[in-house]
Amino acid sequence: MTHIQSYIKENKDRFLNELIELLKIPSISADSAYRNDVLKTAEAIKLSLEKAGCDTVEICTTDGYPIVYGEKIIDKNLPTVLVYGHYDVQPPDPLDLWNSPPFEPVIKKTALHPEGAIFARGACDDKGQMYMHVKAMEFMTSTDQLPCNVKFMIEGEEEVGSSNLAIFVKENQEKLKNDVILISDTGMIAQDVPSITTGLRGLSYVEVEVTGPNRDLHSGLYGGAVANPINVLTKMIASLHDENNHITIPGFYDKVEVLSKEERAEMAKAPFSLDDYKKALDINDVYGETGYTTNERNAIRPTLDVNGIWGGYTGEGAKTVIASKAYAKISMRLVPHQDWEEITQLFTSHFESIAPKGVTVKVTPHHGGQGYVTPINSLGYKAASKAYQDTFGKTPIPQRSGGSIPIVSLFEQELKSKTILMGFGLDSDAIHSPNEHFGVFNYLKGIETIPLFYKYFTELSK
Ligand code: BES
Ligand code: MN
Ligand code: MN
Repeated sequence: MTHIQSYIKENKDRFLNELIELLKIPSISADSAYRNDVLKTAEAIKLSLEKAGCDTVEICTTDGYPIVYGEKIIDKNLPTVLVYGHYDVQPPDPLDLWNSPPFEPVIKKTALHPEGAIFARGACDDKGQMYMHVKAMEFMTSTDQLPCNVKFMIEGEEEVGSSNLAIFVKENQEKLKNDVILISDTGMIAQDVPSITTGLRGLSYVEVEVTGPNRDLHSGLYGGAVANPINVLTKMIASLHDENNHITIPGFYDKVEVLSKEERAEMAKAPFSLDDYKKALDINDVYGETGYTTNERNAIRPTLDVNGIWGGYTGEGAKTVIASKAYAKISMRLVPHQDWEEITQLFTSHFESIAPKGVTVKVTPHHGGQGYVTPINSLGYKAASKAYQDTFGKTPIPQRSGGSIPIVSLFEQELKSKTILMGFGLDSDAIHSPNEHFGVFNYLKGIETIPLFYKYFTELSK
């Protein structure tokens, strides 16, 4: 029987080349100029699932980009693993900060990736991690080692909120029926510190618009006498945090899950160096809510951040002007039990209430989703833990992540099954940033670990 390690050794170059071909297609879901490329990527995924041994693969159309669905059912009495991933990517801008073009993948060595890393938009988030599952499937089917049933659901709108996937899931409960959902779209602590993500934050994303006078004004003739929307907006935003960096929106913390001392002590055991963290980001200190550590601030505490702010004159030189309007895009990361629609409502009422006379305020909700936590005693978690134990020689550490995959809580609600988040990226892989990359070691380690998850999950389910 072919062993996964020798299979990887023999096929390593092909595994890399296939991923590189996939990364060349700019499947940017946010930008309609790339529509054909997004569609082309769905076709490429379909073909790869067929080649990997799925019995049926379909491109399921939605009101947005299609969902690629494939399956191989070997025995109705065996468990079924549903793999989810996304083939869309974030826009690559700012382009001038990339050391090589985002859709011309190259493999380069880095300090953390001595075996090389593939540099391209989507390398880690999520084409590279999603494709590990396709290659693991290929290994299992071609060597007659697939122990259970598999369903794949790969979508093209994760980076823009998964709203059509939510509809698809609600309408296809029977088709998607499964015993566990498996996703690789998160990270791990370090190359020699495997971890399984046990929590994701929720999200509420809004855009705000502050309007003052009916037209842009001369800042000398009118300055000081009318509200300047940019001054007002920045003051309003500044008031959303107090001196302890606590969010000031009334009711914001009402449903926040409070972790026990023991749980926080357990979390603090995960290896972490504040010095390395600061060095990696070139900052002289960290910043955040009083009373919490860095790891707590970005995992178990909710946050509010401005993602973009604009208005007025930003061109070359100086123009003396009071703009008629100012805008900002604001995201709130939420923790389990906070309801994103309720938080959006609380934000909206509060933001409207703090607007001074002389301006009007409009809040437009974008998208959102609930947070997620999963226990470490489920069959799926145990199977994943055993798989990592085999391939890394260490028990993986459960870790809550600060990122969001809003569809995960909907999976649990609609499909009634637990999601196991086996992420193989590093925080330093620059997802959503220029020079995104994914380690060759991580890619191959993922392909090696996934079949063991199937094996142990099937065994534990007996
Ligand atoms: N894969 C990421 C989320 C992620 C990354 C979670 C690393 C944990 C660790 C996903 O593609 C993503 O970027 N999600 C968005 C939310 C989405 C609604 C646009 C996010 O977290 O900003
Ligand atoms: Mn992702
Ligand atoms: Mn992403």
